[in-house]
Amino acid sequence: MNQTVVVLDFGGQYSRLIARRIRECRVYCEVLPWSAPLEEIRAKEPIGLVLSGGPDSVYAEGAPQIDPAVFGLGIPVLGICYGCQLMSRLLGGTVRPAQEAGAREYGRTGIRYFGKSALFQDVPGEAVCWMSHGDFVKEVPPGFTVFARTQHCPAAGFGDPEKRLYGLQFHPEVRHTEYGSKILENFLYEICGAAGDWDLSDFSERMIRQIREQVGQGKVLLALSGGVDSSVASVLLSRAIGRQLVCVYVDHGLMRKNETEEICRYFSSLDLDFRMADARDRFLEALRGITDPEEKRHRIGAEFIRVFSDEAASIGQIDFLAQGTIYPDVIESGFTGGQTIKSHHNVGGLPEEIGFRGLVEPLRLLFKDEVRALGRQLGVPEAIVSRQPFPGPGLAIRVIGEVTREKLETVREADAVFREVLEAGGLKGKIDQYFAVLTDMRTVGVMGDARTYSRTVALRAVCTDDFMTADFARIPYEVLEEASRRIINEVSGVNRVVYDISSKPPATVEYE
Ligand code: XMP
Repeated sequence: MNQTVVVLDFGGQYSRLIARRIRECRVYCEVLPWSAPLEEIRAKEPIGLVLSGGPDSVYAEGAPQIDPAVFGLGIPVLGICYGCQLMSRLLGGTVRPAQEAGAREYGRTGIRYFGKSALFQDVPGEAVCWMSHGDFVKEVPPGFTVFARTQHCPAAGFGDPEKRLYGLQFHPEVRHTEYGSKILENFLYEICGAAGDWDLSDFSERMIRQIREQVGQGKVLLALSGGVDSSVASVLLSRAIGRQLVCVYVDHGLMRKNETEEICRYFSSLDLDFRMADARDRFLEALRGITDPEEKRHRIGAEFIRVFSDEAASIGQIDFLAQGTIYPDVIESGFTGGQTIKSHHNVGGLPEEIGFRGLVEPLRLLFKDEVRALGRQLGVPEAIVSRQPFPGPGLAIRVIGEVTREKLETVREADAVFREVLEAGGLKGKIDQYFAVLTDMRTVGVMGDARTYSRTVALRAVCTDDFMTADFARIPYEVLEEASRRIINEVSGVNRVVYDISSKPPATVEYE
């Protein structure tokens, strides 16, 4: 078993990021909801505890609380933002609205570190940190010492070194905080005494043993979407159980250029039972006349389940269903509510009538970057491992309005050109997702001497840490110019290209 750090999630937008940063420091980490009982926390035998940020005020009615006994477990605790305010309040400090300190602080803020503290070891006296808070700690609890302050925050970093309890008003997990990773590393190694034993090669060996134990001689069915998660899951499973694994790839005809061919080529070469269901016509039929985005998603999800179930029925007895669920999915489905902005249908949405005995989810403890690293270790081709996210409903939600064969062809070609131009411009690793959208707008143009009345392609490229928020990518004009020139010249039916400069929020990444 790996040493474990537990992050208690108070609903902050960066809670997952904290867990990822801890894993990047080679320390295994799990996220639990703030309401997790003390016993559940203790059962993890954590070497440290982190209390995340959150949207509430600690003194508001109904604000998330914790059992103060967590501070008496004898393990180090690091409170971040809301977490530090909660710690202060529960241990006898004072928390007040930020206005009382003169101003709210949001974004990049200058900070001064002073005194001697293991938490800020090797951090220079002045730096920049990322603030995002409506309250502040006015007085630290008895026995605590202040080690950092900003203009409006008299206790931006503080702690009781003897009890190993620390608080940070700013967010060390956000890249904009200079030395943020160093501070987290100090907490883990200098304060919690971490050994740095989280290592993916052990993980895959352990997981292979675990899969064999769980599955025995049973047959396992996996819906392969060709995305990173289901691909890496299937390779790991095939290492563990070989041809007991059946992978079904549903070709809905909504993939990007050449993707289906690449997927079929690679998976047919592995030691597993790979099957492709050609359902292109069925999906087009299901989408005929449909323009509403949610209805499109709904029909695609439903059709997927029908095709997949038909295929499964031809296999015979299936004992387990495998899925490429990853840790962020687990965290999200565990304890977030909220409004449905878009219903994200993922391939693998369970057709229960298949009648399997259990689920196999070999990646459910891993973050996306860990899944990619594992994929590389397992020899999955780079084209698959570094594939950017692609929505389950595919190009259907990148064609605005009714989806037709011809429009799919147009968006597929435009997308391929855009990706090629960006990659040739050296931007591949710098932008997290980039693609073309076929809008339903027609405009007048002139080609040669003739008038055209053709479609507009929108180009979308975003930079993001977690896809919850995203910023449009600042692509050099020359690259955009090349993409526009080539798309208009090479893709028939397009006479105009626009670049989308909206961020998320208020826009979303996809158009539908
Ligand atoms: P939005 O458009 O919600 O997208 O800002 C955020 C990220 O999610 C991807 N996305 C999906 N992924 N099934 C998926 O697996 C879906 O239905 C779906 N819709 C959006 C989107 O590509 C972006 O990376």
